[in-house]
Amino acid sequence: MKWWIVIAILLGLNSAPASQAGAAGQVIVCIQCHALQPAQFSQPIKLWKNSIHAEHGISCNACHGGDPMDSAQAMSPARGFRGVPTGTATPALCGGCHMGIMKYYLNSAHGRTLGRGGPTCVTCHGSHDIKSATLDIINKKNCSTCHTFDKARQIRSAMLKRDAMLMAIEKKIKVLRRQGVITDQLEKRLFSLRNRFHAMFHSLDVKLIIQESDHIQAELEKTNGVGGVGTEPLTGTLAVGWALLMALLLYLVKRSLD
Ligand code: HEC
Ligand code: HEC
Ligand code: HEC
Ligand code: HEC
Ligand code: HEC
Repeated sequence: MKWWIVIAILLGLNSAPASQAGAAGQVIVCIQCHALQPAQFSQPIKLWKNSIHAEHGISCNACHGGDPMDSAQAMSPARGFRGVPTGTATPALCGGCHMGIMKYYLNSAHGRTLGRGGPTCVTCHGSHDIKSATLDIINKKNCSTCHTFDKARQIRSAMLKRDAMLMAIEKKIKVLRRQGVITDQLEKRLFSLRNRFHAMFHSLDVKLIIQESDHIQAELEKTNGVGGVGTEPLTGTLAVGWALLMALLLYLVKRSLD
């Protein structure tokens, strides 16, 4: 498990509320009955079972509505059943929990062409078989059905550069921690920074991503050689390393808020 996930769990920093019903281990009536239905209606269960949503207790009713505890009334509109979401309604549905991402998306070339050829959340992530998202989603098969792959390639390489930088910061923090510095604050900041950067893909703004990445690179270089084994007295090195990293992260968080 990645360390920032461990921190998130420890801090209870779940970015989205869990669905009310269908708590861990509890089988809801939607699943009980749908498991007995023909493929079109039972297939979603198989796909969902291996999804990141199932892992976090986000069940059928979180997206489709309805009453997961009452078999007779489960799919009654009076109990909030919404049926199958249409393409144009999908961003608002997913965005109910993934708000920051929806904002970037709606302002992007994809969001602006919603309903007129632009992809929705499920075009790229699927609807039931949703997995932890990585840059592997950006590939020729997914990204050249509607336009050339060229634009996709540009944004992908800008994002890869950014990932490398986040890893470099992570490494520096590790060095500090090994030297006995309490790094909780730094790790918390890095965690929120990482989240903002992963949401930023949805803006499709290559310029913005490159600009941010270049700036981080420059700031990162200032911290080079600090926090390692230097010739200065150890405490001095640690203090300088801590201060520089703190300044870098503060700067990054502020920039990504602008
Ligand atoms: C007692 C059996 C039963 C239960 C309980 C049940 N379903 Fe269904 N569901 C069906 C059947 C049969 C169909 C296909 C025929 C139809 O649309 O009525 C269906 C269709 C659906 C569809 C797609 C069809 C559409 O047009 O709406 C969705 C989405 C769905 N169910 C979600 C749910 C959810 C969410 C729950 C729990 C809150 C639930 N179901 C509970 C039997 C059930
Ligand atoms: C994260 C949101 C989400 C969750 C959770 C979810 N669904 Fe869906 N479901 C969708 C979307 C979006 C569609 C629309 C079809 C598409 O775009 O793939 C859909 C479509 C369906 C359909 C229609 C399939 C068809 O071909 O007509 C059924 C049936 C269904 N879901 C049942 C379920 C059941 C049962 C569960 C729980 C095991 C579930 N869904 C959980 C989002 C969700
Ligand atoms: C009821 C709230 C809720 C709804 C609605 C919802 N999600 Fe999620 N989603 C979550 C939670 C909770 C997680 C797991 C924690 C996390 O990674 O944020 C998650 C995780 C994800 C992830 C993996 C994130 C990662 O860390 O890589 C993706 C991708 C995703 N959801 C896409 C969607 C899409 C697409 C829809 C709409 C079809 C949707 N979600 C609807 C709550 C929701
Ligand atoms: C369902 C069709 C569709 C799919 C699939 C799709 N796009 Fe797009 N994309 C569009 C449309 C429509 C536009 C806006 C018109 C244009 O620039 O061609 C666009 C524009 C873009 C732009 C230009 C943004 C700008 O402001 O100039 C980028 C970058 C982009 N897409 C990346 C991707 C990536 C990466 C993927 C794969 C993960 C992808 N697209 C998959 C439809 C799609
Ligand atoms: C054109 C394809 C595309 C579309 C459309 C799209 N996504 Fe994504 N999404 C991605 C890619 C690629 C990543 C991985 C970005 C990264 O690693 O930095 C991602 C990452 C995510 C994540 C994980 C962020 C994290 O913290 O790791 C979530 C959650 C998510 N998307 C939800 C959504 C929702 C909700 C929508 C609709 C409002 C949506 N996506 C629309 C391609 C897409």
